Amino acid sequence: MQWGARRSYEAFSPERAGEVIALRSSERGPLIEILRDLQATFGYLDPAATPIVAEALNLSEAEVYGVISFYADFRTEPAGRRVLQICRAEACQAMGAEKLCAHARKRLGVDFGSTTPDGAITLLEVFCLGNCALSPAVLADGQLIGRVDDSTLDELIEAAELASR
Ligand code: FES
Repeated sequence: MQWGARRSYEAFSPERAGEVIALRSSERGPLIEILRDLQATFGYLDPAATPIVAEALNLSEAEVYGVISFYADFRTEPAGRRVLQICRAEACQAMGAEKLCAHARKRLGVDFGSTTPDGAITLLEVFCLGNCALSPAVLADGQLIGRVDDSTLDELIEAAELASR
């Protein structure tokens, strides 16, 4: 089992955030796309970007924050060096995803939406990866893996921990 390619991100700066926002400022209703672009650029949505987005789109900061907090895909802190997403939708649940989730939380010592203290792995939940026939499924840094069990998960985690040392 292998992780996908690790992504590298730019360091956040208000100036660079402004450039990213400006690329879509002429579009209609671009808030979610802009937030996606910012996260793709910096790896997360720095809180300092919220007022910049709000001003550019003539929205209140509360409106922007409301959208950020509504979507589980948006992060307001940098992710760990690896991002592990476990599918919790129906087909995966029927094939033992909840047991897998419990194992991941126990093994990593963190809950969904959190990063291990050493910064090695961020654990996220996701709802259907389009791989229902091979459930339970996970995304390991974008690498789709099906029929995952506790030992597969342990292999992934150990590989990430080893690479972090
Ligand atoms: S329900 Fe998990 S991949 Fe579809």
